[in-house]
Amino acid sequence: DTINGAVTFDHVSFQYPDTQAAVLHDISFETKPGATVAIMGATGAGKTSLVGLIPRLYEQNTGVVKIDGKDITTLNTEYLRDAIGYVPQEIILFTGTIQDNIAWGKEDATLDEIIEAAKLAQIHDTIISFPMGYDTMLGQKGVNLSGGQKQRLTIARALVRKPGILLLDDSTSALDIRTEATLLQALRDVACTTFLITQKISSTLHADLILLLEDGSLLAQGSHEELLENCVLYQRIYES
Ligand code: GTP
Ligand code: MG
Repeated sequence: DTINGAVTFDHVSFQYPDTQAAVLHDISFETKPGATVAIMGATGAGKTSLVGLIPRLYEQNTGVVKIDGKDITTLNTEYLRDAIGYVPQEIILFTGTIQDNIAWGKEDATLDEIIEAAKLAQIHDTIISFPMGYDTMLGQKGVNLSGGQKQRLTIARALVRKPGILLLDDSTSALDIRTEATLLQALRDVACTTFLITQKISSTLHADLILLLEDGSLLAQGSHEELLENCVLYQRIYES
């Protein structure tokens, strides 16, 4: 069965097993299926740690994380991994064709599925502009992609699984405002719940929910308009 992508954090706290200090304190929020959620906060605020709890890369110490109303500790991890697309902060591409790089981790993906994912990730047009198209080699002897092209390629890789939830860890930092907005709208159109870690106000403008983290705590949550009205830190980020 597929997931709708409603995500709930209910009083979630977390610390890494090898450390004393809590990294996330008492985080609670709720998203609707297909929502765009922007996560902001300074370096070290806990953004990557927060999204890592959703596919159970780590286990929270207290509180409950739910997907579509189900406690994720009751869901099988294979199912979770299939249902959740994760684009980590560090981009990993290997020497091989663009097609192989997108299909990495889902080697049975058909070319049609790969193209569909690339279109959704807004990288298809770039790929077909290369003489070899999807057979273009990456790496030392192949083409050099720009930072934004690499980001969209790794987003396409996550989308090949048709996830109901997509986690983007700073994966749009090199995209221009228009390409990013088109990408977010495309994800909305396919009802993929998207968590976008970002430093850019341009990515939060159209988010259904913005989570503003400070030192592991949820300083504020709401829409752009709500945070502009209620949160001094957000106003400062907006004006800077
Ligand atoms: P940036 O990516 O720099 O913007 O930061 P972030 O908001 O993603 O913070 P992150 O969640 O990575 O880190 C939050 C806190 O957890 C920081 O104090 C980190 O030092 C700590 N931390 C992150 N990863 C690990 C880990 O694997 N082990 C341990 N022990 N601590 C970690
Ligand atoms: Mg991070």
